[in-house]
Amino acid sequence: MSSKKIRLLGISGSPRKAATVYAIQEALNYAKEKYNAEVRSFSVANKKINFCIHCDHCIRTREGCVFKDDMEEIYELMEWADAYIIGSPVYQGNISGQLKTVLDRTRALVARTPKVFDGKFGAGIAVGGDRVGGQEPTLRTIHDFYTINFILSLGGGAFGANLGATIWSKDKGAAGAEADKRGLKTLYKTMDRLILVAQRLRKS
Ligand SMILES: Cc1cc2nc3c(=O)[nH]c(=O)nc-3n(C[C@H](O)[C@H](O)[C@H](O)COP(=O)(O)O)c2cc1C
Repeated sequence: MSSKKIRLLGISGSPRKAATVYAIQEALNYAKEKYNAEVRSFSVANKKINFCIHCDHCIRTREGCVFKDDMEEIYELMEWADAYIIGSPVYQGNISGQLKTVLDRTRALVARTPKVFDGKFGAGIAVGGDRVGGQEPTLRTIHDFYTINFILSLGGGAFGANLGATIWSKDKGAAGAEADKRGLKTLYKTMDRLILVAQRLRKS
């Protein structure tokens, strides 16, 4: 196994500390134990994060966002990380509004530091109350964010975790996610792929 230590950031897009936070923490623990990854996390729960208002301050000044809110914390973490695991609850068949706002607000980070995401890696976790509740469209939206921002987008591979990790919480919060052993297998498979590819391709 390569000894490259990957800096991994987990992002939870749920306004609660429940199933998605559980899944992100499980992914980080797995990567830390199996691959000695250095891990950090960010949750949108209880955070003050304004919508992007398209004022173009970030584009004009190249000095970051006009809002000084809890995005400051995640901007720093995003710069620090080599790889991302973004998790979202499925809301109306797609990512949560809170996560969408975080992704929109990265426009300011890229305007200030255009190569911030270059050469980095990303995968996703979708957590639905239903077994088939929109996990795949949710993962696709996360992949679209990676693609648009030149982050190499990874799934967990065929025969189990195709587009990434899909968790069925049965609307039972962390306990529901923990009980979904089949879903957790997709998570471990996805983390294997994310870390192994990052170790192989990361520019040191
Ligand atoms: C506004 C809203 C919309 C939801 N829409 C869906 C949905 O389309 N499909 C689904 O499977 N679950 C849906 N759910 C259920 C959540 O995805 C599920 O409870 C998930 O585990 C929540 O994540 P959390 O426990 O991390 O907050 C929805 C929940 C809310 C609050």
